[in-house]
Amino acid sequence: MSNHQPFQKSYIYTALWLAIVGGFSLGAHIAMPMGFGWNLPRFYQIWVQTHGHMQLLGWTGLFIIGVSLYFMPRFVKVPLPYQHLTKYILIFITTGLILKTGALFTIPYLEAGTTTSLLTVLVQLSAFLEMAGVFVYLFVLITLFKRKPRNYEGLKSVQPFFALMVAGFFLFSTLHAIQYIAFDVTSRMPWSSFSIDIFILLVLFPVAFAFSVRTFPLFIQIPPFRVSFFWFGVMYAVCVAIYLAGTFYETPFHLDIVAKIFISCVILILIYHLKLIPKMLLSPRRFMVRYYGEKYLKDRIDSGAFTKARPGYYDYGQYGRFELLIYSAYIWLIIYAVLELLRSISQLTALSLPFGHDPVRHVFLLGFITMLIFGMAQRMLPGFEKKKGLWSRSIVTWTFILGNLAVLGRVLPILVPQRWFGEIPGIHEWLMYGFGMSGIFAIVALILVLLNLWRTFRG
Ligand code: HEM
Repeated sequence: MSNHQPFQKSYIYTALWLAIVGGFSLGAHIAMPMGFGWNLPRFYQIWVQTHGHMQLLGWTGLFIIGVSLYFMPRFVKVPLPYQHLTKYILIFITTGLILKTGALFTIPYLEAGTTTSLLTVLVQLSAFLEMAGVFVYLFVLITLFKRKPRNYEGLKSVQPFFALMVAGFFLFSTLHAIQYIAFDVTSRMPWSSFSIDIFILLVLFPVAFAFSVRTFPLFIQIPPFRVSFFWFGVMYAVCVAIYLAGTFYETPFHLDIVAKIFISCVILILIYHLKLIPKMLLSPRRFMVRYYGEKYLKDRIDSGAFTKARPGYYDYGQYGRFELLIYSAYIWLIIYAVLELLRSISQLTALSLPFGHDPVRHVFLLGFITMLIFGMAQRMLPGFEKKKGLWSRSIVTWTFILGNLAVLGRVLPILVPQRWFGEIPGIHEWLMYGFGMSGIFAIVALILVLLNLWRTFRG
């Protein structure tokens, strides 16, 4: 155990700072004019694209990398190889993100000339620096997997999901860097939407699901999973490959859309297997009886295991109501899967939907991933730093309220057709004000999480 690398808090702090002053601030700066009817910022496409990229790689990416560098070696029971390299992952990605953003926002304000040419080179180098950071991470991770004990059963069930994550990080960062070489850096990148799909389907969902499978039975009292998720992972991977191929090739019989329908169904089936829905709906006692049996429950009560713990959980409240964040994340994931299902069906039938991919993406990115990060960060990270509880439990509840307000504000006015509220005067305006404020709600929630973690780690 002593050879294990300690937890690298710097990844979490950097992800939070990049989110607060970078990704979410850019998002808020675009959403406010939209919500309050002000003028949109100049060079809108750069704002949108930089917001999206900063959120994906800076916020969710660095969080995932930081947590996995601590978690994966302990999970496969092998110390992390090349520990001295981990600082370069953070340095390369963060420097790349900051330099690229700075240069991208400067170029359009200058006359074309030597300075803009130099800044363009800086953008390109920064994109390659980000890619180099991701490559070092993948190198360390793949070496770790190679050194794991042969036939290690603990990994087998979720192995396809981790393999997808590795492929996703590789494709996303490579495509991103190539685009900045091949096209005008100030224009809208042509593979932008494709890269976002890659990150969502290959990195974010697989890694979030694999982590949920490994950690929920430890944090939330649900029985260990008896099903192997291996074949679900393989099926999910095949469907994602077909769906992504549809971007470039006309697939026969609309196979790409059918694959998308399967992806949504697999996500819903996987959520069903996580047993979070009955966990939310049943009383702790009824849940225990249904999934563990009367005898197990009686033995646990007799052994005194439940004297201190909160009913239904293993903690005694020192992490606040963190489960609310996890439950709401998964409710947003169900909404995402259903909306994607409807979107796919609408492509095959006459069904007409009043929304496009933007609100659905944000249901996933803000509703599912960001809420899950809030929950997992406040439940899991104190333990990584050998702390026995959080500095503030009420902050957990506040991040739940503010986070959900941000999601509702961000997606409701675009998801719900205006005519539904036709009878109620002013309701659409109010929903749009909510849209305008959504970024601010999220930023306040992020600042609270940062404060809570910082005080917890220091305490
Ligand atoms: C309350 C918080 C957020 C606000 C106010 C916000 C706002 C926006 C806005 C206004 C757009 C442009 C939409 C359009 O032009 O159609 C956008 C696009 C986008 N956002 Fe967000 N967003 C938020 C959170 C997030 C999060 C958490 C993520 C990822 C983790 C994210 C990732 C993206 C992506 C990938 C795009 C598309 C970028 C592109 O088209 O290149 N956003 N967001």
